[in-house]
Amino acid sequence: MSNDPLLQPYQLKHLTLRNRIIMTSHEPAYPEDGMPKGRYRAYHVERAKGGVAMTMTAGSAAVSKDSPPVFNNLLVYKDEVVPWIKDLTDAVHEEGAAIMIQLTHLGRRTRWDKGDWLPVVSPSHNREAAHRAFPKKIEDWDIERIIKDYADAAERMKAGGMDGIELQAYGHLMDQFWSPLTNDLDGPYGGSLDNRLRFTFDVLTEMRKRVGPDFIIGMRYTADEMLAGGLSKEEGLEVSRKLEASGMVDFLNVIRGHIDSDPGLTDVIPIQGMANNPHLDFAGEIRAATNLPVFHAAKIPDVATARYAVDSGKVDLVGMTRAHMTDPHIVQKIIEKREEEIRPCVGANYCLDRIYQGGLAFCIHNPSTGREETLPHQITPAETKKKVVIVGAGPGGLEAARVAGERGHDVVVFEVADKPGGQILLTSQSERRKEMISIIDWRMAQCERLNVRFKFNTWAEADTIAEEKPDVVVIATGGMPHTEVLAKGNEHVISAWDIISGDVKPGNNVLIFDDAGDHSGLQAAEVIAKSGAKVEIMTPDRSFAPEVMAMNLVPYMRTLQSLDTTFTVTYRLHAVEKDTSVADDGSSCNKNNLKAFIGSDYGGVAEERYYDQIIVNHGIIPLDDLYFELKPDSSNQGELSHEQLIKGEVQSVVRNPEGQFQLFRIGDAVSSRNTHAAILDALRLMKDI
Ligand SMILES: Cc1cc2nc3c(=O)[nH]c(=O)nc-3n(C[C@H](O)[C@H](O)[C@H](O)COP(=O)(O)O)c2cc1C
Ligand code: SF4
Repeated sequence: MSNDPLLQPYQLKHLTLRNRIIMTSHEPAYPEDGMPKGRYRAYHVERAKGGVAMTMTAGSAAVSKDSPPVFNNLLVYKDEVVPWIKDLTDAVHEEGAAIMIQLTHLGRRTRWDKGDWLPVVSPSHNREAAHRAFPKKIEDWDIERIIKDYADAAERMKAGGMDGIELQAYGHLMDQFWSPLTNDLDGPYGGSLDNRLRFTFDVLTEMRKRVGPDFIIGMRYTADEMLAGGLSKEEGLEVSRKLEASGMVDFLNVIRGHIDSDPGLTDVIPIQGMANNPHLDFAGEIRAATNLPVFHAAKIPDVATARYAVDSGKVDLVGMTRAHMTDPHIVQKIIEKREEEIRPCVGANYCLDRIYQGGLAFCIHNPSTGREETLPHQITPAETKKKVVIVGAGPGGLEAARVAGERGHDVVVFEVADKPGGQILLTSQSERRKEMISIIDWRMAQCERLNVRFKFNTWAEADTIAEEKPDVVVIATGGMPHTEVLAKGNEHVISAWDIISGDVKPGNNVLIFDDAGDHSGLQAAEVIAKSGAKVEIMTPDRSFAPEVMAMNLVPYMRTLQSLDTTFTVTYRLHAVEKDTSVADDGSSCNKNNLKAFIGSDYGGVAEERYYDQIIVNHGIIPLDDLYFELKPDSSNQGELSHEQLIKGEVQSVVRNPEGQFQLFRIGDAVSSRNTHAAILDALRLMKDI
C-alpha cells in the first residue's frame, strides 16, 4: 500500500473514505427544474471514476421556498427531488466515492424576483451588496417554518441515499444569525453569542430527531468574518468549540472571511495571481482547538500543497474543488504516478464567475466539464489514421493538435511565432495572470507525449500545406486587434495589445476606449497606471469590462483604484484628430495633442477632450486569409455541419468531390470570442475526426 498521505483511507464515523481528497460543495448551476438530472449526475460520476474520496454536491441546496435559486440551485424542499438524488447517489457509490450534500437557506444572499417571488428573510433589514435584496426582518413563525424545512430536507437527503449533510454557515441565513452585523433581533435569537447560535442548534436538534444520531452532519462555516464589527476569530473559535460540545456535528469544514461583496468572496475563494492556500494555517488552528475532523478548501490547486495540508496535520480531508473541475482524474493520476499529466487549474475563475451571471459553470481549459454527456474527458483512438495539419499554436490550435494526437493521427502544427501560446502569451505578460500559461504548457506536454510535430517560425501558405498532403486542415490562426472603428483618425490610435506586449510605451494622459469589455482593456490600463500615467477607461456600455465578470474584476480594481484611474460609462469615442500646431521652437504646442470627439449613444454628450495617447479595445478581427485561400481546394469548402458537430457525428459535408482535404477553422480565426470557446471549438470538432 502507498505511504502517500493523500492516499490513506479516512474513517468518518461509520464511513470509510478511500483517500483524503474531496470536492467541497459547489453549485455548478447544472440542475434542470431544480433537480440533479443527467448533466449533474454525469459531472459527479466522472469525478467519482477519477478517484476522489468524496464529492459534496449542491452547494447551497435550498431547503425553503423563500431561499430562491439565485444560481440555479437544487430545490430540496420538493419531494420529487428524492428519486433524482437516489439516481445520483447510486451512480456515485457505484464508482467507489462517498457523496454528501450541502443544505442551506440563503437568507438575504439571494433575490426576491427569482422562484416564487417571496420576500427574502434575514435577522436584520441590512441588504447584502452582492445580491441587492432588502430583506424582511425574520419573524418567529419564519424561524419555526425554516427549522422544519431544514429537517424535512435532511430526511429527504437520507432517503435519497446521501452519506451525509453539510450545513452552510458563511454568508447565508445561519451565520446571518451569528454575525452582529446582520442580526438586529432581540430576545431568544439575537444579542449574546448563545442567542445568535440558537437558530443553528434548533436546526441541528430538529434534524437529529429526524435522521438519527448515526447520520453524518457537518458544518461549513466562517470562523472569522474578518470584518470590523463582524464575527471575530475569538468568537469563531468559541463557535467551533460549541459545535463540538453539542455532540450533533460530525465534521467542521472551515472558511475564513465573508462573502457579502465581490472583494470579500474573492478573498475567501482566491483567484489567479492571489496567494495559494491563504487560510490553511487558520484551518489548522481550528483543528488544533477541537477534536472534530476538519476539512478545508481555498486555492489548494496542486497535489504537493494538498499533500502538505494533510501531512502537516492542518486538515483531515483536503478540498481540491476547482482542481477537479479542471481535471476529474487527479487521484487516479496520483495512484498511477502520472501526477505530471494532471491538467492544472489556472485559477481563471471562469467557472465561478459565470454562475453569478446566470450561466453554467464551465472550465476555461477543460470544455468537457459540465458537458460529460456529450464531450469525453478521455479521447478514444480513431479507426483510420489521418494526416492532420493545424495552422496556429494558440490554445485552440494546441487543443486540436492534442485531440488529434490522442486519436492516433499524424499531426503537424505550423506556427509563425517562435513559440506556442498565441494570445495567452500576451495574457500571461501580466504577473498576476501568468498562471494562464499552464493552458499552453499542459497542451505542449501532451503533444510531446503524442509525437505531434511543430514547425515554429513558419508562415504557412497554400503550398506549404499541400506539401504535407493532409486529409484534414484546421485553421487556428486567431486574429489581430480591431481598432479601425472610428469615423475619423483610426491612424492615431493604438491597441491594448500594443501596450500589453510592450511594443508601445504608455503615454502620460491616456484614454482607453473599451467596448470589447474584456481582459485586454483592463490589462493595458494596469500597465499604463503602473507607469505613473493618468488613465481613463471609457465605454459606451452601462458598465465597464462586462466580460471580465465579478471576481476577476477584484484584483484589477484594487490596483486601478489605488492608482486613481477614471471610469467613464455610457460615453462613446467617435473620432480622433491630431493637433498639428507647432510652437516657434518647433515643438508641438500641445503635449496632449490628440483631440477626442466624444458623444454618447443616449444623445446627451458632445465634447472634445485632449489626450496624448488613445487606445481602442474592440476585440479582434480574424486572420483568415489562408482559410479563404485553401477553401476552393477543400472537399467541404470550409463548411462545418453544425448538426453533426452538436450531435458528435463525423463531419461528412462534400461540396467539392475533387477536393483533397477537409478544411475547418476554429477559435478567433472565425470570430472574436474567448479561450474557452477556442478550446471547445477544437475539442468537439477533433474528437470525431
Ligand atoms: C462553481 C462553484 C460554485 C460554488 N458554490 C458553492 C456553494 O454553493 N457553497 C459552498 O459552500 N461553496 C461553493 N463553492 C466554493 C467551493 O466549495 C470551494 O470552497 C472553493 O472553490 C475554493 O476551493 P478550491 O480552490 O479548491 O476550488 C463553489 C465553487 C465553485 C467553483
Ligand atoms: S475555470 Fe479556471 S479556476 Fe475554474 S476550474 Fe477552470 S482553470 Fe480552475
